[in-house]
Amino acid sequence: MSESAAQEIPMSRRQLLSFVTGGAIAATTAATLYPVVLYFLPPSTAGGGEGVAAKDKEGKDISVSKLLAAATPGERVLTLGLDVNGGDATYIVINDQKEVANFGINAVCTHLGCVVPWDNGAKQFKCPCHGSVYNADGGLERGPAPQPLALVKTTVSEDKVLIAPWTEQDFRCTDLWCNKDPYWAK
Ligand code: FES
Repeated sequence: MSESAAQEIPMSRRQLLSFVTGGAIAATTAATLYPVVLYFLPPSTAGGGEGVAAKDKEGKDISVSKLLAAATPGERVLTLGLDVNGGDATYIVINDQKEVANFGINAVCTHLGCVVPWDNGAKQFKCPCHGSVYNADGGLERGPAPQPLALVKTTVSEDKVLIAPWTEQDFRCTDLWCNKDPYWAK
């Protein structure tokens, strides 16, 4: 072995040792910080999407594939979602093609705040407290509720339904309420 070759081998070992040690420190640091970083991230966001994940009554993220397997076209499925008007019960809208629509409906009656059940036969929301009726999109059909049910935006991401505020125009129009201004966004 030449003298220059003999000098190269210890240098390579030193570099290798330095590399391995540095990698081990980096891996240990990452493993330590990972749960800390997760702690500060919003718990219900899902990769790449926008909003909070809709949850079932046990507080688990709803699986879109399971939701659609159990749902019927046109159904409205009650979930826990975005807190829009002091309540967080939100209906996910299943459209006629059996897909999750791009809007959801806040389930809190705009009269005195009861959670409004969905009548799948009549295709209406009927409030049991004082008789208000809303159409399938949450549009106001009968008082005493003064306004339609609030809208939310829904998107599907990684088998979850993400719920975000609806700040665009209100697309619903009934004899009792036809105002494009989203009152809940103020
Ligand atoms: S709370 Fe719904 S009608 Fe009164």
